[in-house]
Amino acid sequence: MTITDQLQASPSAAGTEGPALWPAQAHVPSVIGRQLVIERGEGSYVFTADGRRLFDGTAGLWHANVGHSHPELAAAAHEQMLRLETYHTFGRFTNERARELGDRLADLSPIARAKVILNSGGSDAIDVACKLARRHWQREGREGKRVILSREYGYHGLHAYGTSIAGLEFNRDGYGTPSLVSETARVSFDDADQVARTVAEIGPENIAALVTEPVQGTGGVNPPVPGYLEALQQICREHDILLVLDEVITGFGRMGTMFAADRYGIRPDLLTFAKGVTSGYAPLGGVLVSPRIWEPFFLNGPEAPIFRHGVTYGGHATASAVALRNLEILERDRLLARVGELEALLQRELTELAKHTPGVLDVRVAGLLGGVTLAEQLSAEQASEDLIELGFISRPLRGNTLQISPPFITSDAELSSFVQAIRQAVTDQMGR
Ligand SMILES: Cc1ncc(COP(=O)(O)O)c(C=O)c1O
Repeated sequence: MTITDQLQASPSAAGTEGPALWPAQAHVPSVIGRQLVIERGEGSYVFTADGRRLFDGTAGLWHANVGHSHPELAAAAHEQMLRLETYHTFGRFTNERARELGDRLADLSPIARAKVILNSGGSDAIDVACKLARRHWQREGREGKRVILSREYGYHGLHAYGTSIAGLEFNRDGYGTPSLVSETARVSFDDADQVARTVAEIGPENIAALVTEPVQGTGGVNPPVPGYLEALQQICREHDILLVLDEVITGFGRMGTMFAADRYGIRPDLLTFAKGVTSGYAPLGGVLVSPRIWEPFFLNGPEAPIFRHGVTYGGHATASAVALRNLEILERDRLLARVGELEALLQRELTELAKHTPGVLDVRVAGLLGGVTLAEQLSAEQASEDLIELGFISRPLRGNTLQISPPFITSDAELSSFVQAIRQAVTDQMGR
């Protein structure tokens, strides 16, 4: 049934267009009239317009790492706006906050001597990384290297490149072509031998880059099987394929290290980030670029090529000021170490949950990131709805999986209560 058919079959939805704002990633008639209007946040909690207090077990869309409504981040934005809201970074122009943030990110980067490109979010960052990978090989005179590989179940945002390299098929559907931007292909999400075979079939001389999340998020919270990321890195090095690590979720502490690259010992050529860089307090994303790629563009002389990556808000001064303060808070409040403690607790809690809860098929943890996969006869979507009634926010991910990714400031007791609530939601659904 098409959405139009459904609207016509459902008079209430057909008769209620709802507010002007088009809900994102939603089957519209299923959400109109029952949207949760989040009005206020405080630490690990959000409050709805109709008076509910909900534990934010997902940190919004994996972004609110230092918790909601942090006064120091509000102050950082306020101070910067009073001085200069922003100034663009095209050509000779730049602004001091963007430069300061660039230096700070280069210091933190797992890529030695990294240059930093700033823009507005994760999808932006992915677009830039894929374009830069292609630009790199064109400039090198290896014109055939144009294909961008990505993994099954991968999610890289929804701009044209993110849509084209989506490993979740439904995000690529409906545009009249399997790849909105041409020349992309998928590889196995867990079998490195298969990846090597795909590379051989396509031909390394045709492949520009391989894009991967270190731990797949939207694809169901899938930590890499042991040795897989290392093998990807090896394949890329052997065949001169650029490795793009998409750290939009994992960057800035969610793995207990500044980047997942540090945790897994991976050295990518390009690294994309967003969300955690500002804990979501300002829209900001970007790419860390290795010298192998940036050096030719910084050559002294008229022959230096130009990479046209600019956007109006790339290097936004207020977003950069907020990011700088957020990075200070992560360090000062020792939040990476706290993630390590919470990971150990989450691992214990989910192991127990899996052992004692019929209906829980599998659990996975990496850093403060957990996935709970439910048995086929249960619905993670329904469990998320039931969790709201219990006062907790989770989210259904691919593979009938519930998302666990609370803010880093969550207490032990809150994390344990969240897992208990999941157990209750699963058990209640089993009993229906
Ligand atoms: C791994 C990954 N990459 C890219 C994106 C896109 O980021 P944004 O929604 O900021 O465009 C996301 C968003 O969830 C993501 O999880």
